[in-house]
Amino acid sequence: METFEKTEKFVMRTYNRYPVSFVRGEGCWLYDESGKKYLDMLAGIAVCNLGHCHPRVSEAICEQAKTLIHTSNLFHIGPQAELARLLCENSFGEKVFFCNSGAEANEGAIKLARRYGTELNPEKYEIVAFKNSFHGRTVASVSVTGQGKYSQGFGPMLEGVKFAEFNNLESVEEVVSERTAAIIVEPVQGEGGVVPAEPDFLKGLREIADRVNALLIFDEVQTGIGRTGRLFAYQHYGVEPDVMTLAKALGNGVPIGAVVAKGRAAGVLKPGLHASTFGGNFLSTRAGVEVLKVMTAPGFFDRVNAVAAYLRKGLESIVEEFPGRFEAVRGLGMMLGLVCRFECGELVGKLLEAGVIVNCTAGRVLRFLPPLVITEEEVDYGLSVLREVLRGYGGR
Ligand SMILES: Cc1ncc(COP(=O)(O)O)c(C=O)c1O
Repeated sequence: METFEKTEKFVMRTYNRYPVSFVRGEGCWLYDESGKKYLDMLAGIAVCNLGHCHPRVSEAICEQAKTLIHTSNLFHIGPQAELARLLCENSFGEKVFFCNSGAEANEGAIKLARRYGTELNPEKYEIVAFKNSFHGRTVASVSVTGQGKYSQGFGPMLEGVKFAEFNNLESVEEVVSERTAAIIVEPVQGEGGVVPAEPDFLKGLREIADRVNALLIFDEVQTGIGRTGRLFAYQHYGVEPDVMTLAKALGNGVPIGAVVAKGRAAGVLKPGLHASTFGGNFLSTRAGVEVLKVMTAPGFFDRVNAVAAYLRKGLESIVEEFPGRFEAVRGLGMMLGLVCRFECGELVGKLLEAGVIVNCTAGRVLRFLPPLVITEEEVDYGLSVLREVLRGYGGR
């Protein structure tokens, strides 16, 4: 039985999949069963930021897999401790909790916030979140996700979640109070259409959170680990959260999540209050250590930002070359959206057939999240395929 047939027969149909099955990857390139080559400008949705099978990460994983994979958090775990150190020393963080995914990291952050709030006052459990946000698919993370389609039919959602408008501080003032335990926000909304926060917005959120004694949580699951051209997106803004959630690229493909906290937030979760069997295991944290070592090497981000600017310019020239088809290019670093005047799902399929992988988010935003190691030549190739496909495609 072929992969397609087995998937149809035995895998729950929670995804609509393209009829492609990749068997090998190297850098920015993926190869399907027939040997056809694709330029990956999506990186497994902001996961393989160092490219597929980065030699240092793959070697570290192989070595670790042959040595020790799992013992449980009843014992000390060398690579876990090292990854926590690297995360803290390269961010605002003081302490880290490890888990296995973005939703689980946000779940942990929400529990941390509720515990923090209710220890001050039993009524202080509300969370302020944003319209068009995305924080994952567990019940708590979907409860703070500001897009109704994700929670429909799964209710009741968590009590005490208030939604405000992204980039609108007045709307935050309307819902915030002494009962607010936390404000959770993505520095750049990803699934919401690649929308960066305005600098004054994040600064304002910091002030509001401090005024009502609430925690400020930045969901950097998608923006973190280099995606925006710095290790963490908050570093562009000069605003530090109390809590930051990470996942996706932290293991370059090995499942891992993390909750990074400082100050009063760092000491909330005490023994027995929160846990995860797999969280921080040898394999995933060893991958994470290697990822951070590669990214914190001198000059790494100079190169990323040079190519990101090149990609952005290329996309901007496409907006000009195809008048009336696109509205704008937006995003930060290597997290870019080409805002279309048409629903772009079909275009993504055509690009895939032509050998370039991107995706469509929020209906009309063609999203580019290439591995950070993409070169100018690869960008040129990807954009030339995009031009060619656009020439033969009317769109709607
Ligand atoms: C900002 C953000 N938070 C959370 C998540 C959920 O992460 P995961 O799919 O690993 O649970 C995502 C996934 O796209 C995300 O973009």
